[in-house]
Amino acid sequence: MIIGPNGAGKTTFLKMISGGIKPALCKVILDGEDVSQLPTSEVIKKGVVLVPSGKANFPELTVEENLRLGLYVGKKGVSRKEILSEIYDLFPVLKERRTQVAGTLSGGEQKMLAIARGLAATPKILLLDEPSFGLAPKVVESIYNSFRKIKETGTSIIISEQGISTALDFREIIDQVYFIINHEFTFRGKIDELESMEDVRRVYFGV
Ligand SMILES: Nc1ncnc2c1ncn2[C@@H]1O[C@H](COP(=O)(O)OP(=O)(O)OP(=O)(O)O)[C@@H](O)[C@H]1O
Ligand SMILES: [Mg+2]
Repeated sequence: MIIGPNGAGKTTFLKMISGGIKPALCKVILDGEDVSQLPTSEVIKKGVVLVPSGKANFPELTVEENLRLGLYVGKKGVSRKEILSEIYDLFPVLKERRTQVAGTLSGGEQKMLAIARGLAATPKILLLDEPSFGLAPKVVESIYNSFRKIKETGTSIIISEQGISTALDFREIIDQVYFIINHEFTFRGKIDELESMEDVRRVYFGV
């Protein structure tokens, strides 16, 4: 998980490793291959998929049409029907609402759909930019529970969050925490150590 305050560089970093921004001074290496200058569509096919923050769905399309777009951009040679059924197992509410247009879903359901659309592309690494933003605690809990299950299937997850509280609430599913401030990573380690870091205490606890 990547934690950092407003403007720290979280979104920029996630876009950079998923092909949205081409780095000038560094390289993005995936399984030994330099993918820094590949178009986003190629990076997705290699298994790196970003779920952006905010509104990420096509509001006029139905839930299932949105998911089919996710299936379409993913790797070839995987059973699309099977993926869809796995996604509906993970988010039963999306199955119930599969013929409803995405624009009329609740905020939490829209976030689930955006995550599900990312999963439809069968990522090896799923990137999520501030997935808890603007959601009620119960919805955040259900989304983080889905991350737990996604992780169990062997998919790696990189999450960015602005605050530290979500990380603390779900600390048992977080293997590694990175703290970013002023476009620089200043910490990498376990969440328990992060809590006592001076930068972090200043930013989040005012001490
Ligand atoms: N390495 C960098 N060098 C110079 N400028 C950067 C760098 N990374 C990010 N920026 C700039 O910093 C600003 C904020 O970055 P970004 O949107 O990534 O922050 P964020 O952590 O996602 O913030 P928020 O929590 O508000 O979404 C942007 O204007 C971006 O262009
Ligand atoms: Mg951001």
